[in-house]
Amino acid sequence: MVSSLMSPPWLCLGLISLISISVLVNSSIANTERQVYIVYMGEKPSGEILIESLNFNLLDQVLDGITSRESIVHSYGRSFSGFAAKLTEQERRKLEGFQNTKEHWQQKLESDVIIGMIDTGIWPESKSFSDEGFGPPPKRWKGTCAKNFSCNNKIIGAKYYFSEAKDNLSPRDVLGHGTHTASIAAGGCVANVSLFGLAQGNARGGVPGARLAVYSVCHRYRGCQEVDILKAFDEAIADGVDIISISMGNDHPSEYFIDVIAIGSFHAMKNGILTVASAGNDGPTPGSVTNVAPWLISVAASSIDRRIIDKLVIGDNRTFEASELMLNLYDYTRTNFEGKGSIILCYGDDGGNSALVYKAEGAVMIDESALDFGKQYPLPALDVSVAVGEELLNYINKTRNPVVNIHKSEEIFDENAPVVASFSSRGPNTITPEILKPDISAPGVNIIAAWSPNASVSDSPVDKRSVFYNILSGTSIACPHVSAVAAYVKSIHPSWSSAAILSALVTTATPMNESRHYVAELAYGAGQLNPARAANPGLVYDAIEADYVKMLCNQGYNSTKLKILTGDKTSICSSKNGTGTVRDLNYPSLTLHAGEGKSVNANFSRTVTNVGIAESVYKAEIRTTSKLEVTVNPSVLSFKSLNQKIEFIVTVSGPPMSSPSMVSASLVWSDGKHDVRSPIFVFV
Ligand SMILES: *[C@@H]1O[C@H](CO)[C@@H](O)[C@H](O)[C@H]1NC(C)=O
Ligand SMILES: *[C@@H]1O[C@H](CO)[C@@H](O)[C@H](O)[C@H]1NC(C)=O
Ligand SMILES: *[C@@H]1O[C@H](CO)[C@@H](O)[C@H](O)[C@H]1NC(C)=O
Ligand SMILES: *[C@@H]1O[C@H](CO)[C@@H](O)[C@H](O)[C@H]1NC(C)=O
Ligand SMILES: *[C@@H]1O[C@H](CO)[C@@H](O)[C@H](O)[C@H]1NC(C)=O
Ligand SMILES: *[C@@H]1O[C@H](CO)[C@@H](O)[C@H](O)[C@H]1NC(C)=O
Ligand SMILES: *[C@@H]1O[C@H](CO)[C@@H](O)[C@H](O)[C@H]1NC(C)=O
Ligand SMILES: *[C@@H]1O[C@H](CO)[C@@H](O)[C@H](O)[C@H]1NC(C)=O
Ligand SMILES: *[C@@H]1O[C@H](CO)[C@@H](O)[C@H](O)[C@H]1NC(C)=O
Repeated sequence: MVSSLMSPPWLCLGLISLISISVLVNSSIANTERQVYIVYMGEKPSGEILIESLNFNLLDQVLDGITSRESIVHSYGRSFSGFAAKLTEQERRKLEGFQNTKEHWQQKLESDVIIGMIDTGIWPESKSFSDEGFGPPPKRWKGTCAKNFSCNNKIIGAKYYFSEAKDNLSPRDVLGHGTHTASIAAGGCVANVSLFGLAQGNARGGVPGARLAVYSVCHRYRGCQEVDILKAFDEAIADGVDIISISMGNDHPSEYFIDVIAIGSFHAMKNGILTVASAGNDGPTPGSVTNVAPWLISVAASSIDRRIIDKLVIGDNRTFEASELMLNLYDYTRTNFEGKGSIILCYGDDGGNSALVYKAEGAVMIDESALDFGKQYPLPALDVSVAVGEELLNYINKTRNPVVNIHKSEEIFDENAPVVASFSSRGPNTITPEILKPDISAPGVNIIAAWSPNASVSDSPVDKRSVFYNILSGTSIACPHVSAVAAYVKSIHPSWSSAAILSALVTTATPMNESRHYVAELAYGAGQLNPARAANPGLVYDAIEADYVKMLCNQGYNSTKLKILTGDKTSICSSKNGTGTVRDLNYPSLTLHAGEGKSVNANFSRTVTNVGIAESVYKAEIRTTSKLEVTVNPSVLSFKSLNQKIEFIVTVSGPPMSSPSMVSASLVWSDGKHDVRSPIFVFV
């Protein structure tokens, strides 16, 4: 959350502050009632942001009887910020009112956006959820607050669904997870937080001006029940959230009609709400990705440039670097082992439990699976690689009085970031192989964010330390970063469908370095989330409910299964509409599941909608280092108006591939201002 990687658009000041609105000049042209005014808003905001959309949005709030597109004469924004527009005297005064109330422009937009968090609840007293400066909730909001819980103008709804529990009945978070994810998505600015001095800095969520609605479905002792998750979707949609953020998933990918997150998010999609979900923490095994439905966005976790390491210094002064801390090196299984004054060395990460049982002072655990992210333990402990473990064993064996010192964790700069974490679940999508999942990657390693003081710092029940900010890793943590950006896009484009927002996030993602990743696109999807570009994608790949239904028919779902998912008696698949392929879905990535040993040859039909500049010309560019041959027809798209749709066909061909193997390329539509990039991924 305080990652410096994302610093330009994630400053604590809010994305754009309305420094001053001053109406400079007017000249009487146009009609008698409206005059052209220049509205000057000061400095150009940092980052590539969509001045034009923001201008339209601001204008729409004051105009009476005409649209912003009819009113605006010019948008300024290359060197400074502002616009010229045709306004009546009354509209002009209303605009000036914005200056008088000193409202922050983006905060104003954001404050109309509500993120529904389906998680473990929230700690409402956290500074991250202060409602200072917030007005009342948007009028359309229909949510409510549990009786024994205090909502405010930041947390505008809080409910709990615990079908299997009769105690702890409250949306109050006692596990920490929900507080963490909520503050990443929409926490306010809190100065100088840290975890025992680590990761010190200002904490801030992605959209600090947005509202939160909390749906707690995970009970301390009863876990997260599917029936409760579905209830939370049902309520969140009816309450009027704009984005749903769910950092949960099944242990294994499952068919959509038996997957409550797929079912819930399908209904969300029908209501224009994008669901953002975590890809899972079962990587790097291929095929481990969950939350694979095309009507939700599935998020992988990547590192940030702040790495946290621990040093282990042994008696001969040799220093080992580890991801986190565990050592007097004894075989602790000996019955009369006395741990006091010792650090134990063991195979496997048991969370430091053996050290606790033997009353040791610390632990060194040999575990290769957890070396690229930090973990908290109830005592000084760390994981080391097998190679380091062997050196330590060797040292113990050769030394009469082996000693070791576990140093306090340190921060170092990681120039390789972002890299997808080992634990992040990988594609291919085992339910619909021709839909690339995960879709995108976002920060999810060693992220500091708000925490419940009633939860353990380290996940160990014996750990009684209580903190208000904690460091966590996981795709759970990556997910709310994307939820925030989705909410940001929604604040600027309130009418966009869930597919349009998904497309905007995917096509503006920054490509990642294939050579640093096991299974490439199957690890990161389109690449790393890019908040600065997401609101201004130029073109989007849109889709509606019928498109997804058609895809499901093409995938072989029959009407019985379809109805469970859609809840709609009229959704039926017949032989007529089951003749296409899954690839026909207008998805922003292009994936082909090719046959082993057969030449690659397939067409993808796609339609893009112009959401950038009315009159614009986009040219197709194919980026490939593989043997794939890609052609696009037509390869030039000339738009005359906004919201105009143009169809094209991408033909992908290549030599036969062996099993397993994969190749990729990308299609970029560019008008010189926007690069609309789609990964092309072929695997056997
Ligand atoms: C909250 O209120 C509900 C219903 O009034 C009650 O059953 C529950 O025990 C209360 N929870 C707490 C933590 O006080
Ligand atoms: C930040 O907090 C730490 C303690 O957590 C304190 O030592 C330090 O002085 C604070 N810095 C500022 C600038 O307030
Ligand atoms: C280890 O380092 C310490 C302090 O740096 C030094 O006093 C000591 O002699 C060193 N021991 C060995 C075995 O090199
Ligand atoms: C320790 O040394 C003995 C004898 O040199 C050897 O048999 C044993 O395998 C060694 N153990 C380890 C863990 O290296
Ligand atoms: C939270 O912690 C406080 C203070 O330790 C304690 O009084 C309270 O009972 C705890 N609440 C829960 C729900 O665990
Ligand atoms: C990708 O990573 C490899 C290996 O770390 C490195 O050699 C290469 O320069 C990187 N490529 C880019 C474009 O950064
Ligand atoms: C499939 O075709 C049937 C009959 O032709 C039609 O009623 C139904 O709506 C179609 N379903 C879809 C998903 O297009
Ligand atoms: C759909 O398939 C299921 C089994 O997979 C079957 O029980 C059901 O009758 C089928 N429905 C239709 C309409 O064919
Ligand atoms: C792809 O489309 C072209 C026409 O655009 C057609 O000639 C060709 O046969 C199609 N290829 C496949 C594999 O369907």
